[in-house]
Amino acid sequence: MSTTFDQKCTGIEVAEAFSKEIRGKTILVTGGTLGGLGAEFVKTIVKHSPKLVILTARTKANRAQTRGYRSMVTFFTYWIDETFDAIRQDTPEAPVRSLILDLSSLKDVRRAADEVNAYGVTIDILVHNAGVAGCPLDRTEDGFPLVLATNHIGPFLLTKLLLPKMRAEGRIPRIVFVASSAHKFVDTFRWDDPLYLKEDEYGPASYPDSKIPSYLFAPALVRRSGGGVHAYTVCPGIVYTQLQRYLAPEQKQKMGYPSVVRLHERGWESQDGNIPHRPRGYHIVCIEDLDNTGCGFPAESDYLFNALIAAFDLQLFDAPGAHISSACKIAPEDVAEHAKGLDLEERMWALSEGWIGGKFEL
Ligand SMILES: NC(=O)c1ccc[n+]([C@@H]2O[C@H](COP(=O)([O-])OP(=O)(O)OC[C@H]3O[C@@H](n4cnc5c(N)ncnc54)[C@H](OP(=O)(O)O)[C@@H]3O)[C@@H](O)[C@H]2O)c1
Repeated sequence: MSTTFDQKCTGIEVAEAFSKEIRGKTILVTGGTLGGLGAEFVKTIVKHSPKLVILTARTKANRAQTRGYRSMVTFFTYWIDETFDAIRQDTPEAPVRSLILDLSSLKDVRRAADEVNAYGVTIDILVHNAGVAGCPLDRTEDGFPLVLATNHIGPFLLTKLLLPKMRAEGRIPRIVFVASSAHKFVDTFRWDDPLYLKEDEYGPASYPDSKIPSYLFAPALVRRSGGGVHAYTVCPGIVYTQLQRYLAPEQKQKMGYPSVVRLHERGWESQDGNIPHRPRGYHIVCIEDLDNTGCGFPAESDYLFNALIAAFDLQLFDAPGAHISSACKIAPEDVAEHAKGLDLEERMWALSEGWIGGKFEL
């Protein structure tokens, strides 16, 4: 079985195809900064009358706590009210509300989950989109490396805290993990030292390490809930967003980004490879497409973020736990051996329970 979409479809077309499924749903999306995939996802779906979209963001203070951010004088990013302005400019009646959430803090995840659980709504779909990559080793207040805390430990705890209400009255919620094919850049999860206690070994592998758990978590959620939760992983492809803020030009090129010169020509990066403070507008572009077409720069909403498929495609009902590739296909072969299998799923679950300091029963 495969989905009926491919990379040539636009996000607008796909959202139209799912219009009936979007209508009336309550969806929580993490990582809502303008210029990133989460904001784009929301901009696309609000045109189809969801009941409510909750978009999470960090505050200035949250961001300031991150050492990597402090040391990055060149990065630029937007604030949540700017995201909302852009969404409402497009769809004035968009039913959106913001939720402050710092996934790297267990305390803040608990506070935010309490806040959401007190809303008079039930979340149908949870999209774990927020993520960070390539930043220097930074320990969170809980002692975890920032990347693992943001990309896995916080989402694990948030899922645990939101699921009881999401599953009430026999509902089958959907959970989408925005993972990454970068998980294949390593041969195994760092089981012997996942928190990088050997700090001198910290490096670019920290991002692949932090994405492996998503591939183990999604099928484990389906299995442990006896099919009462549907969870999917997606890899969005290589997309030019603020995620690249920590990557040096040579790292970007190694990972398949167009040359810095080409990005510079478009005014997207300065000649030294830094993202400008105030780009003109913001850019969502699938770099895989960009390379294929030479200079095809689709408009923001032309980009198809495959989380749309994972969140709304009813065909996927028969394939809970599946991985959706950047080509928009169900693609178990795109998940590395070191990120699948019952033993590893259970091992990761137990480890994650240890990190959040409590059992996660379904
Ligand atoms: N772009 C790609 O090529 C690519 C490829 C594969 C997978 N992905 C995945 O796609 C997802 C979206 O990334 P993107 O490309 O859209 O990057 P992005 O533009 O950097 O967006 C990431 C979002 O995550 C938020 N975030 C970061 N740390 C957080 C924390 N501690 N707590 C809460 N929110 C936090 C960011 O907020 P701030 O603005 O406050 O930092 C931002 O809203 C990520 O999971 C990423 O790993 C992206």
